[in-house]
Amino acid sequence: MSVHIGAQHGDIAETVLMPGDPYRAKWVADTFLKNARCINEVRGMLGFTGIWNGHMVTVHGSGMGMPSLSIYANELIRDFGAKTLIRIGSCGGMQNSVNIRDVIIAMTASTLSTPSRSIFKELSYAPCADWELLRAAASAAEQLQVATHVGGIYSSDVFYDERPDLNEQMTRHGILAVEMEAAELYTVAARHGARALAILTVSDHLVTGEALPSEDRERSFVDMVEVALSAAF
Ligand code: HPA
Repeated sequence: MSVHIGAQHGDIAETVLMPGDPYRAKWVADTFLKNARCINEVRGMLGFTGIWNGHMVTVHGSGMGMPSLSIYANELIRDFGAKTLIRIGSCGGMQNSVNIRDVIIAMTASTLSTPSRSIFKELSYAPCADWELLRAAASAAEQLQVATHVGGIYSSDVFYDERPDLNEQMTRHGILAVEMEAAELYTVAARHGARALAILTVSDHLVTGEALPSEDRERSFVDMVEVALSAAF
């Protein structure tokens, strides 16, 4: 057991998918894994371990925002030996070329701050994805014929953003989408020698104002999870 994860040693796979929403973790386990069992429910942050194509996989919620994700990523790696962490989640599109339902594979994650920020002092550290995972995800997406973009994203500390000027600059500089967790995942994984990647579905759009109707969300999530699982093995 760790401070926030009530699992026993050996309950958690080396490969962990991390949706923000704990109920999404349950849905992924029910939909994609065989023999899935719940391995954590401390504070309602559900985690499940099961089998996908003969491989042991854990799906564990991260919660919303980098402070929450940081707790789970640290404990999964340091206390349970996780070696590959793939965030699966939603994001807001920031380019006209990015459409609702498209999948974003995040090569880098720019941010104003992360829980790791204090380590770097004056350095603007550039959190980046694991190359092997990124390459595998891009080729899985191509094979599965999922509309995909690979590039930089923005990890924000706020959903209700008050900096339209900053969003404009990021759009201008090619940032594909905004979410709230990847920069800290990449930083924590790099620090501890683990592999990390964020694969995201565009659920809303900051430029066009469109949003994915709730009945379409599940289908879009299927594409993203298939890309994530194929990339991991
Ligand atoms: N902002 C931040 N995170 C998000 C968004 C957004 O617009 N959409 C989905 N996750």
